[in-house]
Amino acid sequence: MHRTIIEPFKIKMVEPLSFLTREQRENLLIEAGYNLFLLKSKHVTFDFLTDSGTTAMSSAQWAAMMIADETYAGSKSFEKFQNVVNEVMGFPYVIPTHQGRASERVFFGHLVKKGNKVPSNNHFDTTRANIEYLGAEAVDLVIDEGKDPKNTFPFKGNIDLKKLEDFCRTHQTQIPFGMITITNNTGGGQPVSLENIKACANIYHKYNIPFIIDACRFAENSMLIKQRETNQNHKSVADIARETFADADGCLMSAKKDAMSNIGGFIALKTNNWLQSLKNLLILTEGFPTYGGLAARDLEAMAVGLKEVLDESYLEYRIAVSRYMVEKLNALGIPTVLPAGGHAVYIDAKSFLPHIPSHQFPGQALAVELYRREGIRTCEIGSVMFDNAAMELVRLAFPRRVYTQSHFDYIIEGLGDLVPEKAQLRGFKMVYKPEALRHFTARFEPL
Ligand code: F0G
Repeated sequence: MHRTIIEPFKIKMVEPLSFLTREQRENLLIEAGYNLFLLKSKHVTFDFLTDSGTTAMSSAQWAAMMIADETYAGSKSFEKFQNVVNEVMGFPYVIPTHQGRASERVFFGHLVKKGNKVPSNNHFDTTRANIEYLGAEAVDLVIDEGKDPKNTFPFKGNIDLKKLEDFCRTHQTQIPFGMITITNNTGGGQPVSLENIKACANIYHKYNIPFIIDACRFAENSMLIKQRETNQNHKSVADIARETFADADGCLMSAKKDAMSNIGGFIALKTNNWLQSLKNLLILTEGFPTYGGLAARDLEAMAVGLKEVLDESYLEYRIAVSRYMVEKLNALGIPTVLPAGGHAVYIDAKSFLPHIPSHQFPGQALAVELYRREGIRTCEIGSVMFDNAAMELVRLAFPRRVYTQSHFDYIIEGLGDLVPEKAQLRGFKMVYKPEALRHFTARFEPL
């Protein structure tokens, strides 16, 4: 009986890690205005800023890239990519884009009008920003359990169905489409159950509202359904993924996550209702509809990645790492969102640092300290990122197939010293506050 979590792959290409001293990191923090987005990667030892576009691609993906058909129109690589999306998700109409937010901009640009409202469990920052940019409202209707970091409900990404029904009834004519994000990144990487996805589809459709899934972590969500939802364990993840999309009218995808690619995205649709208008918008800013702002080699990487990600030994390992990190952090006395999700571990900075109030950014204080001590780059998801944030979280997002189990053990050892010294941490003041998506460029001063 083996207990060690092992990577179900071997490594063919390596990149050195960089190790700096704490003093060097302190100076770099001052230069970066204490914003970890403004650090250089050569100054980061463990980069957990995001799982987006940071995947180590497989030899099969690199091999496919070499045979890509770099044609402006009608590329063979596009056909291959489109067929895979249809096979994996069941959507025959596919529009490639350069990444998730480009899918959002093109799709919303056609469908969202001023004064509209778009419900979801939780909108991710770019999704929210693209909706608000068009003068519409992005509405979060996640279940109450999803707002409580300590609650161990297995599907904390679910939408509150009663709230959704009331919302659709009241605002029907203002809702161009309804969404759900799988897994719920903003809400702690929590999965949505198949039952909830189907119930949402029914409610949206009852009010003639199209149902669009923000699908970037669909494979992790499918594995968590297999592991946690009643009567799902006998199904393959591939079957669960197809069921996930079966009642949806389409999806928006950032291929930088579960398509295992370094760049790319797409819009996939069940019917061709909006297809021509979306393609016209796409041509305006992204490119011709058979490449959508990408090289054909990126289409090849996505096509291989979308199938690779459904490998259950990979997904089991991926989710085991998050669970392991949650257990070890909790054992050290560092509270996290429970239960563990798929792509990341979210430290609950509000409970960990109760002496730092939200307006002094406890998440930022912790993120800065993790870098200062261990060279770990993380991402604040709290009052820096959002006005009226429900939680103050620090996300350690794990790039796919990049760090090994011994890296995680090394980090856990390093964090042991932080707990007894946490009362010394101080909050921050935001001294430069950009209008939109401020976490990317804001600057801070310690209090
Ligand atoms: N939707 C969700 C749920 C996301 O997590 C992201 C990106 C996007 C849409 C936008 O995709 O980056 O390809 O334009 N999330 C990254 C993250 C940036 O770090 O969580 P994109």
